[in-house]
Amino acid sequence: MSQPTIESILQEKRLFHPPAEFSQNAHITSRDQYQQLYDKAQADPEAFWAELAAQELHWFDQWDKVLDWQPPFAKWFVGGKTNISYNCLDRHLTTWRKNKAALIWEGEPGDSRTLTYAQLHREVCQFANALKQLGVEKGDKVGIYMPMIPEAAIAMLACARIGAPHTVVFGGFSAEALKDRLVDAEAKVVVTADGGWRKEAIVPLKEQVDKAIANNAAPSVQNVLVVKRTGQEIEMQAGRDHWWHEMQADVSANCPAEPMDSEDMLFILYTSGTTGKPKGVVHTTGGYNLYTHMTLKWAFDLKDTDVYWCTADVGWITGHSYIVYGPLSNGATTVMYEGAPRASNPGCFWDVIEKYGVTIFYTAPTAIRAFMKMGDEHPNARDLSSLRLLGTVGEPINPRAWIWYQQIIGGDRCPIIDTWWQTETGGFMITPLPGAIPTKPGSATLPFPGIQADIVDAEGNPVEGNNGGYLVVRHPWPGMMRTVYGDPDRFRRTYWEHIPPKDGQYIYFAGDGAHRDEDGYFWVMGRVDDVINVSGHRLGTMEIESALVSHPAVAEAAVVGKPDELKGEEVVAFVTLEGNQQATEELNKTLKQHVVNEIGAIARPGEIRFTDALPKTRSGKIMRRLLRNLASGQEVAGDTSTLEDRSVLEKLRGGS
Ligand code: PRX
Repeated sequence: MSQPTIESILQEKRLFHPPAEFSQNAHITSRDQYQQLYDKAQADPEAFWAELAAQELHWFDQWDKVLDWQPPFAKWFVGGKTNISYNCLDRHLTTWRKNKAALIWEGEPGDSRTLTYAQLHREVCQFANALKQLGVEKGDKVGIYMPMIPEAAIAMLACARIGAPHTVVFGGFSAEALKDRLVDAEAKVVVTADGGWRKEAIVPLKEQVDKAIANNAAPSVQNVLVVKRTGQEIEMQAGRDHWWHEMQADVSANCPAEPMDSEDMLFILYTSGTTGKPKGVVHTTGGYNLYTHMTLKWAFDLKDTDVYWCTADVGWITGHSYIVYGPLSNGATTVMYEGAPRASNPGCFWDVIEKYGVTIFYTAPTAIRAFMKMGDEHPNARDLSSLRLLGTVGEPINPRAWIWYQQIIGGDRCPIIDTWWQTETGGFMITPLPGAIPTKPGSATLPFPGIQADIVDAEGNPVEGNNGGYLVVRHPWPGMMRTVYGDPDRFRRTYWEHIPPKDGQYIYFAGDGAHRDEDGYFWVMGRVDDVINVSGHRLGTMEIESALVSHPAVAEAAVVGKPDELKGEEVVAFVTLEGNQQATEELNKTLKQHVVNEIGAIARPGEIRFTDALPKTRSGKIMRRLLRNLASGQEVAGDTSTLEDRSVLEKLRGGS
C-alpha cells in the first residue's frame, strides 16, 4: 500500500472508460470535445478565458484588458469590477435557487444545520456589518481560526463582501504558528470560536488566540470575534473580545457587496516551502473566482441536482476553492463536515453520504487508505447508491487505494478524478474531465483546458518519452497566485526562476516531479524539494528543524520524510544534542511535543533519532539524501564521496 514507485506506475496499464450514460449527460462529453476546448484555449488563452468570464460571472464593470503579463506578475480582467460574495450569493437569489440548500453542515457531535442561499446571504450580510462595526474597512486583513462550522464560510464570504482579505489559519495549528501568520498578514481582527471538536475532544481555539496575541505579540490585532461552539467557560477580554451571536443580533442584514477590482486581494493563505517561514500565497478576486468556478463545473461535472461534498478543512486551499467559493459560485449544494476519519467511528464518512444523498464526493488518498484499513463492512453496510462521481487530491494515490475507492465506494459506476493542483495554482491543473477522459489508477491524466503543463529538465528543456522531470506550466492562468505577501522577490525566485527563463519566457516551477506516458497522461510522483507530504498536509522540513533547534536541548536537527503506508510520508528527525544533554526517552517525548507546540499536531515527528553528528559535506551541507535512505531502512544509495566524516554514516547505520 506504499506510494507508487516509478516501476509500479509504468506497469499500471488499466484503463477505465467513463460509463456511456455519464458521458452523454456530462458538460464535456468526449475526448474530442476536450481536445477542441484544449486547442481553442491553447491558440488564444485570453479569448478563451474572457468568453467564460463573461458567460459565467457577474461583473459590475467590464474589464479593459483580459491579461496583463509582466513576467512573473499577472493581472487578469484588468479594470473589471466584480465581487465573489455577490457571485456566490446575491445572483442566485433572483433565481429558483433562492431557497435551495447552499450549505449542509454536519457537526461532530451529530448536530446539523442547513442554510439556503437566502439564509446564507442574510448571515453573510449581517456578519459583514459586524466587521464594519468593528472598524474593518476595505483592504484590512481578517484572520479566521475556526472549526469546521458554517460560521467559517460565513466569515470568509463576509470578508470578501466588504473587500477585507481573509487569512484562514487551520484550526490544528498551534498558537505560535497562528501568531506568525497574524503578524505577517497584519490582521486587524481575528474570528474564532470558544472551541472546536476534534475526534471527541475539544480544541481550545480561543485560548490559543489569547496565547498568540498576548503581550502585544501580534500588535495589528484589535478585536477578536468568538463563536460559541463548544460552550465551556472562556475568558473574554472586555473591549477586545466580542461574541459573534451578540454582534449578529445587533446589526442590519442589509449590506450590498462592494464592487471590487478584479485584481484586489481576496485572501492570503500560508503554505510551507523549502526555506524559511511559511509563505503567504496571495490570490485575487476575478481570476480566482472564474478559475475555481470553471474547474469545479467541468471537472466535477456539476449539475444543479448534485449534493457535493469535499471533506477538506477550510484552513487549506481545497476548502477555500472547493468547499466555499467554487461550489457557491456555481449555485451548488455544498456539504461541510466537522468530523474526521477515525477508528472509533469507522462509518462516519459513509453515514454522511447516506444521510444527505451525496452525489459527488471529494477526499484525500490518506483518508481512503485509512477507511480501506478499517474494512469493507462499513461502507458496505451503507447505501452509497446516490454517488455518481468521486475525486481525490493532496498526494499521489497508489493504484490499490484507487481501485478500492472505485469498487467499494463507487460501486464500479463512478468515474474517479485525480486532481493535481496546489495552494499556489488556486484550482485544478491536471485532472480528468470525467465524461471525456478515460482514467488510469494513479494518473491525474491531462491538463485542464487553458493549462499548458509540461515536463522539463533542470535547464527547462522538454523531456521527451516516459522520462521523469520537473512539472511546469508555461502560460499564466486566471487562478494562479499573484505574489508572496510582502515578498515579491521570493515569488519570483521560488516559482519562476528556479528553471532559468529563456528568451523572456518564464515557466512556473511547481516543485513536483512527474512522468508522461505514451497517451500524454501525467503521473505526478511527489515533491522534488525539501517539502514533505504527511496525510496530504504540506510541511517544510526547515520549519520542523527550526522548531526543534528552538528547544534548548537541541544543537542541530535534520528532518526528512519516510514512506508510510497510511500517511504517505512520516516525519523523521535526526537530532544532535547540546553537550550536557542525555538522549533519553523522556527528552524524545518532550521534543515531539515541542514541535506540536511550535507548529501543530500535523508536524509531530513520528520518530526522533538522536545522533552524535549529522552527515555533512565538506562545505557543511547536511546530506539529506543519506538520511532519507537511513530513515526508510534502505541501503545508502549513490555517491557518498563528498561526506566529510565517513564514520558518522557508520554510526547512524548502527542506529545510535
Ligand atoms: O506534491 C503535490 C501534492 O500536493 C502539493 C500541493 O500541496 P498543497 O498546496 O497543500 O495543496 C494540496 C491540495 C491541492 C503538490 O505540489 N498533490 C496535490 N494533489 C496531488 C498531489 N500529488 C499527486 N497527485 C495529486 N492529485
